[in-house]
Amino acid sequence: MLRAAVIGAGRMGRGHIGVYQQLEREGFGVKLVAICDVDEPKLHGEKAYALNIGKSAGVAHNKHNYSTMYNCYTDAEEMLRKEQLDVVNVVVPTYLHAEISQKALRAGVNVLCEKPMALTPEQCEEMIACAEQTGKRLMIGQCLHFWKEYEILAEKVKSGEYGKVNDAYFYRGGAQNVVTNPSWQQWILDRKLGGGGLFDQHIHDIDVIRWCFGTPKAVSTVGKTVYPKSAYDICTTRYFFDDADLYIHARDNTCYKGSYGFQYGYTVNFEHCTMVFEHGQLTIMEEGKEPVLVEKPQESAYYYEIKYFLENVVSGEPFSRNEPRDAQENVRIALAEMASADRGGEIVTL
Ligand SMILES: NC(=O)c1ccc[n+]([C@@H]2O[C@H](COP(=O)([O-])OP(=O)(O)OC[C@H]3O[C@@H](n4cnc5c(N)ncnc54)[C@H](O)[C@@H]3O)[C@@H](O)[C@H]2O)c1
Repeated sequence: MLRAAVIGAGRMGRGHIGVYQQLEREGFGVKLVAICDVDEPKLHGEKAYALNIGKSAGVAHNKHNYSTMYNCYTDAEEMLRKEQLDVVNVVVPTYLHAEISQKALRAGVNVLCEKPMALTPEQCEEMIACAEQTGKRLMIGQCLHFWKEYEILAEKVKSGEYGKVNDAYFYRGGAQNVVTNPSWQQWILDRKLGGGGLFDQHIHDIDVIRWCFGTPKAVSTVGKTVYPKSAYDICTTRYFFDDADLYIHARDNTCYKGSYGFQYGYTVNFEHCTMVFEHGQLTIMEEGKEPVLVEKPQESAYYYEIKYFLENVVSGEPFSRNEPRDAQENVRIALAEMASADRGGEIVTL
């Protein structure tokens, strides 16, 4: 039986806690024993936070008095010292990912750390080195690798089943209610802390573009900063590859209002097929055939992601997808896009 803990019980952390609760109900060999958050009222159910992501929303919305269910801590080091943990999910603000993940690895605990991996490729390198030195597993929560509609896309691009890709367009956009549903000390609105739509949210599409097509040779990004200390809450990027015929771009926006919620998707146009993922529905439109509406997955990508992590910890098998090096590369590309946007869309080579 694996002993698990979650560090960070904010908007996303509550989703991770909910997945552990589900896995336990299903009889998976894991037990969530401890939760850590510096913001004590969250541990006692005095605050509720909303997550705007589909199936995880219900978990995050509720006020939970975790202190009646788990050993609760406000200090991660104390928790790592006192609990005999096998795995920990690091779901704190991005500027703390490198530091807290390394503390957990050095305490002999396997780590699933949320995306973006860290603020810089150098910090990511330290995390990878720490995992190697300690012999513990490190996985980064680039969840699109467990999102059925993106897995299918990557498979179709790589197999060449529908011919070459002519062009592809990726987007994501959400309504962030930064007043009634703030992040911890509003870190998500601070560029220096990992905030801003480009680095925090658009990195998912960077991940899927790199996964499907490899690291681009250059990027050009234009963007607009809406929240004063933030960076590129609205942005559009053009990606350049060695194959000049590949026309790939992506758009991101974290400033939608009201009941917009969260939308994401893609349109990928192959030689013989167009795949459209919008409003949660993937439709495959092959030349000369009836369109196919792909059945939606039963569980959230976070469920499959956390389960995959745990299964690999148990089996000792190396991760066969979504390795830390991939997440490190995403950070490098995101920073190149920010540098491009800082210079008004100048083409930045990678
Ligand atoms: N994979 C996804 O789809 C997805 C979605 C949302 C957020 N995220 C990522 O999850 C992470 C957290 O984002 P969030 O929206 O939940 O932020 P949040 O601010 O709502 O939650 C972070 C939590 O960490 C706590 N915290 C801060 N410092 C701490 C410390 N030193 N020790 C313990 N707890 C501490 C805060 O009190 C807060 O509860 C970010 O890296 C974000 O990018 C990923």
